[in-house]
Amino acid sequence: MVQHSALSPVPTLRTSRLVLVPLGPEHLEGVWAALGDEESNRLTGTHATFTREQVAAHLERIGAADDRADWAITSSDDGTYLGEVVLNELDDENACMNVRIALVPGAPGRGYGTEAMTAVLDHAFGAVGLHRVELSVYAFNPRAQRSYEKAGFVVEGRQRHTLLWDGTWHDSVLMAVLATDPRPSSDAPAPTS
Ligand SMILES: CC(C)(COP(=O)(O)OP(=O)(O)OC[C@H]1O[C@@H](n2cnc3c(N)ncnc32)[C@H](O)[C@@H]1OP(=O)(O)O)[C@@H](O)C(=O)NCCC(=O)NCCS
Repeated sequence: MVQHSALSPVPTLRTSRLVLVPLGPEHLEGVWAALGDEESNRLTGTHATFTREQVAAHLERIGAADDRADWAITSSDDGTYLGEVVLNELDDENACMNVRIALVPGAPGRGYGTEAMTAVLDHAFGAVGLHRVELSVYAFNPRAQRSYEKAGFVVEGRQRHTLLWDGTWHDSVLMAVLATDPRPSSDAPAPTS
């Protein structure tokens, strides 16, 4: 059974280099800056444009939801905002959730994404009690696919023409990890709050 209490309040998760804290209004600057980056928007397939007020309202709202968990990925050294990772789209009966992650420009390629994802999967399969976590990644994003594979995801299939970007259709790759799948060991200790 899915433990909603492990999704809200969103617990803090720690790894050797990162602290994943509940995403909230205090992260507005970092979230807003990332939304202004064209390459980040292409990689995440973000067509929509948001006002700063809409983003602020979203950050105010998400903490109360018990069917999702939004984390800010921060540096354990100095608290720098490095990106966000979100468990959402809860399918209660089938103990399944979707996950998405995006680091801020300049942060990819240093292992932070894989480290954060591993901590979230530990929590998802541990305290939350999920059986399956899935995601979709665009076929033009091999860096993300490689990171997800390192975290334990396997490719399940390909969805054709899921994104129209600058007049060109792109496919996406469906990846998932089950609670029973082998995963790399994690250094993430149990949630602290
Ligand atoms: C996807 C993301 C979270 C991954 O986190 P990360 O910290 O960059 O990932 P890592 O550094 O742990 O791993 C990246 C891997 O991709 C590999 N890689 C990088 N570019 C690659 C390419 N063009 N082709 C194949 N592999 C590539 C790296 O070598 C590394 O693998 P390795 O450790 O085996 O050498 C992060 O890159 C990110 O947020 N990117 C911007 C937004 C985005 O793409 N979000 C995902 C949308 S689905």
